[in-house]
Amino acid sequence: MTACFKEIKALRMQVQAWRRQGESIAFVPTMGNLHAGHLRLVQAAKVRADRVVVSIFVNPTQFGAGEDLASYPRTEQEDVHKLQTQAVDAVFMPSVQEMYPDFGAALTTVSVKQVSENYCGAVRPGHFEGVATVVTKLFNIVQADFAFFGEKDFQQLAVIRTMVVDLNMPVEIVAVPTEREPDGLAMSSRNTYLTTLQRRQAPQLYQALCAAKNAILDARLSYDVIERQFQQTLKQQGFAPDYFSICRRSDLQAATSADSELVILVAARLGTTRLIDNIQVDCVH
Ligand code: PAJ
Repeated sequence: MTACFKEIKALRMQVQAWRRQGESIAFVPTMGNLHAGHLRLVQAAKVRADRVVVSIFVNPTQFGAGEDLASYPRTEQEDVHKLQTQAVDAVFMPSVQEMYPDFGAALTTVSVKQVSENYCGAVRPGHFEGVATVVTKLFNIVQADFAFFGEKDFQQLAVIRTMVVDLNMPVEIVAVPTEREPDGLAMSSRNTYLTTLQRRQAPQLYQALCAAKNAILDARLSYDVIERQFQQTLKQQGFAPDYFSICRRSDLQAATSADSELVILVAARLGTTRLIDNIQVDCVH
């Protein structure tokens, strides 16, 4: 049975009841419009804990002015149905008022320096502060043992991991690999914005990541050259790239040839739709 909660108090009582029975709790935060990527997180959560709580909350504080807060796809009924078929124990669907009673006037936020500053953090000022703050609030509400995040949003995952370590939050962060469409496009709620033509072009983003990974492993070109070359390729294919960056996986700083655990991060716009993706690369020196 999947129970739906709109109020913090009621959800907390349910979680406390499970805890009294000695049950472990896994938490999957989402903004809804659930696809197979989200469900992969849910499945990983089910394996790990006795009870699974999924939140659906389109968090206004992580959207910048002019971004897609108003048009973000909201499909609550279908989402709840999907979670029922996965036998999720609880769905938390708070209103904005429930999460932010003093919306705009709250005095406390959580900001994670350095790891938030480049890439999406530079293009979307305030975004990661909004994410870190809402995830902190959700962690305090759910009080789970484990929380599941997708590698699809690699910088977000790094921000959350850093925050949990720095603030001694008693929750274990579990990363889940990116779920892709058969043609390689990373699943995303924002893929629904793509026109038919753009949808056909979109897998080129992952193809560029795969080709750049091969170029790194080939070890003939410097990282600078590879980055510039693939930005150029993406432009020629009709994307407007925000960044295409070869980074050290541990702290997302620019990688050097001495680093062995890398991740290539990319964000690019196709028309008005912004797509992000990444690929991990392990170099043997
Ligand atoms: P949302 O974009 O709904 O994503 C919820 C979770 O699903 C995130 O951890 C994200 O990385 C993961 N996810 C999305 N697409 C995925 C894919 N193709 N494969 C694997 N995992 C995928 O990320 C957010 O919401 C919000 O920022 C949130 C953390 C809920 C805070 O508001």
